[in-house]
Amino acid sequence: SRPEPCTVVIFGATGDLTHRKLVPAIYNLVIDGELPPGVKILGFARREKSDEEFRKGLEELNRKVSRSGHDDAIWAKFQESIHYHESEFTDADGYKRLAERLDAIDRDRGGKGNRLFYVASAPEFFDDILTQLKGAGLNKAKDGCWSRVIVEKPFGTDLATAQHLNQVVNRTFHEKDTYRIDHYLGKETAQNIMVLRFANAIFEPLWNSRYISHVQVTCAENLGMEGGRGGYYDKSGALRDMVQNHLLQLLSLITMEPPTDLSADGVRDEKVKVIRSLRQWDTPEKVAQNVVRAQYTAGHVDGQPRPGYREEDRVDPESMTESYVAVRLMIDTWRWSGVPFYIRMGKQLPKKATEISIHFKDAPCVLFNALPGGVPGANVLVLRIQPDEGISLRMVSKIPGTSLRLEPVKMDFHYATSFGKGSPEAYERLLLDAMAGDATLFARRDEVEEAWRFIDHIEHAWHQSSTPPPMAEYVAGSWGPKEADELLQQDGHTWRRL
Ligand code: BG6
Repeated sequence: SRPEPCTVVIFGATGDLTHRKLVPAIYNLVIDGELPPGVKILGFARREKSDEEFRKGLEELNRKVSRSGHDDAIWAKFQESIHYHESEFTDADGYKRLAERLDAIDRDRGGKGNRLFYVASAPEFFDDILTQLKGAGLNKAKDGCWSRVIVEKPFGTDLATAQHLNQVVNRTFHEKDTYRIDHYLGKETAQNIMVLRFANAIFEPLWNSRYISHVQVTCAENLGMEGGRGGYYDKSGALRDMVQNHLLQLLSLITMEPPTDLSADGVRDEKVKVIRSLRQWDTPEKVAQNVVRAQYTAGHVDGQPRPGYREEDRVDPESMTESYVAVRLMIDTWRWSGVPFYIRMGKQLPKKATEISIHFKDAPCVLFNALPGGVPGANVLVLRIQPDEGISLRMVSKIPGTSLRLEPVKMDFHYATSFGKGSPEAYERLLLDAMAGDATLFARRDEVEEAWRFIDHIEHAWHQSSTPPPMAEYVAGSWGPKEADELLQQDGHTWRRL
């Protein structure tokens, strides 16, 4: 449903996310006519700035990144809805003033006081911001209105910190008003996974251990620690930065049972069951057998020289943080018994691409095995999450001609050719859903905690055990360490070439 007018208060408003993603997303929603009049943005941050200066900075970036192009006339009108509120995150008085400002905005709007608090500051302030919101009574909705909170990642750094943050959040806002963002869930192609599986009759009968040999999820990035990212990243690493959230979320969409309905809890009840069923790699030996961590050494990406991970700006020269991780997962449910799932994520790989490939078992018959070359591989269904969004199915076909020779061919669906228009950005959909009160595409408390439970064992083996599994190496611009290839080879598989 279309949201009601509201004020979006963004904490950490001077940051990159606000400039690159959040405000451009709201701008696009306005252009597409998705928002009612009367939606206001109030940026909350510590730096001294006037409304005018804040708007100027946002405009500069919108000009560079806007999906629908930057239109001066539309922007001029849009920017009137943007204001800036200067305060320390810990200063109770700043929140009192915030409450007064919000009341004044409501009066201008004719009384409706819906509020969406977007916590996008540095994570060390999440606690303070939530506590202060409560102190100022801003967590309580006015009569007939709503008050909701979006919490950005990282949602904790391990199970204990996530549980603590969940306590703070739920002391302040009801769970139904809490929106933990995972922008992968807002991607059009991720939303299509449930449609592919449950709106088509031909896939689901095959979607189990009888027909599927294994599944691969690859998230490759061709960037490293540009733009000062090393400071954050070196404390996090690939496993916490991307696997705990984005990739486990994709995995749960691929493997969940059909929900009984499309309600937020209906869907999330099924997703969390999968995460809860992950076999735990809870000893250093199991971690060594099932997880590969690695760092890049100096190399070339796109023909450009790149430093090694430990030489990057703001990275500890003796860092033991992984810029690449590959994990073999087992889901102990009836449907997935015995099917390995392989997830890999790496920085400084040859290109940016995220895809999920479902590898089916070989055809049961040996009819063609005597041919030179035999049957060239089994069926593979590839879901291209980004870029070049689409789905393809690899099949084997006879090469036209007088002799019997086989070759793999591809049936291919491209979003760009089938729908002819670009998809909305993840943040557009997610902001709209939060304003409309639909939490389906947001992570629930138990999902986040279960994912951390799985990740914590691995982090523990790496950083706290007396026999930590080794750190592998890969050259920047290559497809990762040889140890990651060996991880699949032990099961008789190889990574799909992207
Ligand atoms: C973020 C991670 O959550 O997702 C980044 O912190 C990563 O390290 C980014 O680069 C990837 O997002 P996308 O949408 O570009 O795939």
